[in-house]
Parts: sequence; C-alpha cells; structure tokens
Amino acid sequence: MFVKNYNQKVLFIIEKQIKTQKMETQTIYHLALVTHIIAITMIAGTTLIDYVIFKQFSKQMNSDRQKGITIIEALSKLPMLFGIGFILIIISGVYMMYVTNGAFGEQTWFRVKFALILLIVVNGLTVGRRQAVKLRNTLSGAGDVNIEENILKVSTNLSLFHLSQMTMLVIIFVLSVFKFN
Ligand code: HEM
Repeated sequence: MFVKNYNQKVLFIIEKQIKTQKMETQTIYHLALVTHIIAITMIAGTTLIDYVIFKQFSKQMNSDRQKGITIIEALSKLPMLFGIGFILIIISGVYMMYVTNGAFGEQTWFRVKFALILLIVVNGLTVGRRQAVKLRNTLSGAGDVNIEENILKVSTNLSLFHLSQMTMLVIIFVLSVFKFN
C-alpha cells in the first residue's frame, strides 16, 4: 500500500515537471516570436522611413541644399537600427528553428523565404552600400562631379533599391504567415 502510494506520488511529480518544462519551452518560443516581430518592425520600418524621407531629400536638394544635407544627416542612425533588427531576427529565427527541430526548413515557403533573405542582404551590401557611398561623395564634393545630375541618378537608384527591398520583405511576410507548402 505504502509503495503504491509512493509510486503514484513520484509519477505525479514527474508529470508536473514535464508539464512545467513544456510550458517554459512554449513561453520562450512565444518570446522568440515576439522578438522576431519586433525585429521585423525595425527592419521594415527603417526601410520604409528611409524611402519616404529620401524622397523628401531629393525634392529639397533642388531648392535648398543645406536643408537636404540636414535631412540626410537625420537618416544616419537608421542603418544601425536596421542592423540590430537583422541580428535579432536571425537569433530569434534560428532559436525557433532549433525548438521545432528544423521542421520548417523542409518546407517550400521557408526555402523561398531564406533565398529572399539572402537576396535582401546581397542587395543591401552591393546596390544599397554603393549608392550610399556615391551620395556621400557627391555631397562632400569629392571629384569633379556634376552634383545635380549625380544626385538625380543616385535618388532614382536608391528609390528602386528601397522598393525592391520592401517588395521582398512583403513577400517574406506573406510566405511566413500563410506557410504555403
Ligand atoms: C528578413 C528576415 C525575416 C523576416 C522579414 C521574417 C518574417 C517572419 C514573419 C512575418 C513571420 C510570421 C510571424 C507570425 O506567425 O506571427 C515569421 C515566422 C517565422 N520565422 Fe521569420 N523572418 C525573417 C527571418 C527569419 C530567419 C532568418 C529565420 C530562421 C533562421 C526565421 C524563422 C522563422 C520561423 C521558424 C517562423 C515560424 C514561427 C511560427 O509560426 O511559429 N525567420 N518570420
């Protein structure tokens, strides 16, 4: 009688521990998802603000160059926010993959999403960075450049760059929510 009661008690404690562990894992998973969403806001938000404010800069540059330069200076913190968002999105995403034993990795939506993430990075490091350097050089007056013409060129390229980044982000959102397979 004593042994039976004792065994039941031990079983009860073990079941309780497993349930608590499951709840803890679920809570941490949800926290990772919340982090993922905060990071998405940072990445998509900075890209959208960059696009809208840069349009304003292009307009201002023709009438008041100093105002234009001030606008560009105001945008200088955005790449840092984008970078922090990107690090958070990778950490939270990798954690969610770890908890789900990489199950999403087998699915089509995730593979397309991953390819798009790589494209966003490559686009940022090549097109985005190159245009930002060109703009900085033009504004500082480095080299014998035609400032108006160069700014117009860089503005058009940067607008296309931002639009392509935002399009890829929207496709990633749709894929991640619908999880087409
Ligand atoms: C630009 C980068 C990324 C964007 C914009 C993005 C966007 C999203 C969105 C919108 C969701 C849906 C959230 C929800 O269900 O409420 C999601 C879920 C998810 N993401 Fe990402 N993500 C990115 C990068 C990553 C990376 C790098 C990984 C993994 C290595 C990853 C793994 C996941 C997983 C596993 C889920 C499913 C969570 C669930 O439904 O339980 N993501 N992501």
